[in-house]
Amino acid sequence: MTLQLTHTDLRAAADIVEEIQQLKRERNAVLLAHNYQYGEIQDIADFVGDSLGLSQAAAQTDADVIIFCGVHFMAETAAILCPEKTVLLPDLKAGCSLAATIDAEQLRAWKAEHPGAVVVSYVNTTAEVKAESDYCCTSGNAVRVIEAIPPDREILFLPDMFLGSYLRQVTGRPLQIWAGECHVHAGIKPEMVNAMHAEYPDADFMIHPECGCVSSYMHFLARGRVSDKNTHIFSTEGMIRHAERSPASQFVVATEIGVLHRMRKANPEKEFIPISESTSCHFMKMITLDKVLHSLRELVYPVTVPADVAARARLSIERMVAL
Ligand code: 13P
Ligand code: SF4
Repeated sequence: MTLQLTHTDLRAAADIVEEIQQLKRERNAVLLAHNYQYGEIQDIADFVGDSLGLSQAAAQTDADVIIFCGVHFMAETAAILCPEKTVLLPDLKAGCSLAATIDAEQLRAWKAEHPGAVVVSYVNTTAEVKAESDYCCTSGNAVRVIEAIPPDREILFLPDMFLGSYLRQVTGRPLQIWAGECHVHAGIKPEMVNAMHAEYPDADFMIHPECGCVSSYMHFLARGRVSDKNTHIFSTEGMIRHAERSPASQFVVATEIGVLHRMRKANPEKEFIPISESTSCHFMKMITLDKVLHSLRELVYPVTVPADVAARARLSIERMVAL
């Protein structure tokens, strides 16, 4: 009984994938997937990557339709960079708790308190917030973006406080930081990392800068109280590159569990251990094969950005992509 059901499910999934591939060709569509997507979505994507890589892939594609398997702000970024293309998000409820921590009105009020400051927004923001920003950045290039700003300028960094405090430590710049956090990463506490260090003393540790453990890790590191020899802070794509290059055979991964799929596929001889099996983003996991098929069949759900907002937001994103 169980075997039969599994076989039926597999057959149904294979049929869905075949129809998705056929519709992609008919519609001249490209499927972009974030590293946190389900493995089955990553496996059928034309490009899988971090926020920076996805922005670059969207900017470069010559497809007519972009099926964005990620969350809303990522699809919006693609729509801003490709106003002439149709950008589809298979489920409009795929939001981001971090992007929801600040809106354009709150940012305008913050800017009014700091006249002349340069505003650097993490890519996890709405198009309207990007339109109020001078620079956009991702975890893959945030240090470079901060270092590109003249040292005498005050900087407002938003919306992630853990990434902000990491940047303060690394660049030595006295950033003003918005007190936002991602509910998934904020839950990765220093105690969890310490417990894993004790259990896997020889493993390489890879930590996303949005994690709740990053500030204390940097704090202890600055005081020489933890060894940094096998602990690294990376964007999701940086983690995947490190997993391939490092001679270590065991890795502890502190970010959303979807990222382990590519690591395991590319490095079958290495062991990848999630910091916790429950570190999962339910927004990312709203995108399923069924919804991707529906999206391609019906051309839903288009993500658009008003032209005036897009024009202003594009400046901040293009400054980032150029760096
Ligand atoms: P990356 O840019 O590292 O892929 O991170 C995006 C994100 O949403 C992290 O939660
Ligand atoms: Fe947003 Fe956090 Fe999900 Fe990333 S993991 S998309 S920051 S809610």
